[in-house]
Amino acid sequence: MSQREFHYTREDFELLRKLVNEHTGISLSDHKQEMLYSRLSRRLRALKLDSFASYYRLLQGDCGDELMQFINAMTTNLTAFFREPHHFDYLKNELLPRLKTQHAITRKLRIWSAGCASGEEPYSIAMVIKEVIPPDWDVKILATDLDSAVLEKAKMGIYLEEKINNVPKTYLSQFFKRGTGAQKGKVHIDPELQKMVTFRPLNLIHTWPMRGQFDIIFCRNVIIYFDKDTQTHLFERFANILVPNGYLFVGHSENLFKLTTRFRLLKQTIYIKSE
Ligand SMILES: C[S@@+](CC[C@H](N)C(=O)[O-])C[C@H]1O[C@@H](n2cnc3c(N)ncnc32)[C@H](O)[C@@H]1O
Repeated sequence: MSQREFHYTREDFELLRKLVNEHTGISLSDHKQEMLYSRLSRRLRALKLDSFASYYRLLQGDCGDELMQFINAMTTNLTAFFREPHHFDYLKNELLPRLKTQHAITRKLRIWSAGCASGEEPYSIAMVIKEVIPPDWDVKILATDLDSAVLEKAKMGIYLEEKINNVPKTYLSQFFKRGTGAQKGKVHIDPELQKMVTFRPLNLIHTWPMRGQFDIIFCRNVIIYFDKDTQTHLFERFANILVPNGYLFVGHSENLFKLTTRFRLLKQTIYIKSE
């Protein structure tokens, strides 16, 4: 403790993890004490504070700005293009062809990427849609996250070249433009693809402003950070906002077993809303 840059006690950890939970639904286990210290240290440094107790006091009286920085620091935003590729194979080869037939009259699809981080997930969905669904269809992808910093990055659609290693070759030339000059080493997402995705801030544990229903929800590697009650409540709400027979994709280490009866498992981490 004495070698630390900032004074940090078990009580500070308890207070701050409660605050994270209240604002995000994220539940930090006991062994996340060091993680909390390292993630928040840069905030204390920036604010020239010397203890976590004073940071907690500052958050108590804060009207939003530091609270946002606090939340941004505490979220885990790891993501990648075509992460868990079997989901995109299923989307391309089975689900979208099926929906193309079922929605042939309305020619409309609504998809939600809930917890989209820096945008790689919704842009990957958009690429597959471009390949399978005719261009005159009314397709919209809503992409939301509570972390304002990653959302800004997502909206810009600029990524380091090394981040596109997982993108199938056919999409690389079609949907990415290599930067030149000051942008060398970066790639830009095709503006046509960007138009398909609407990025919005949204906290999953708060009320949702959306009025329409969704055909597909991707909520991958998000609920793993929530406790079981929060997960159950969220799955209920996902079921309510999905059309009958709507689809829910979750992350590789997530499942709905014993949490809800509103969905049935179709195949590995892909669920369909029950009748
Ligand atoms: C690990 S990333 C997953 C990104 C992407 N879905 C994927 O699987 O690659 C988890 C994201 O969930 C977001 N998140 C965490 N709690 C949230 C909440 N209460 N509401 C909305 N987003 C949340 C985080 O900000 C983070 O960007």
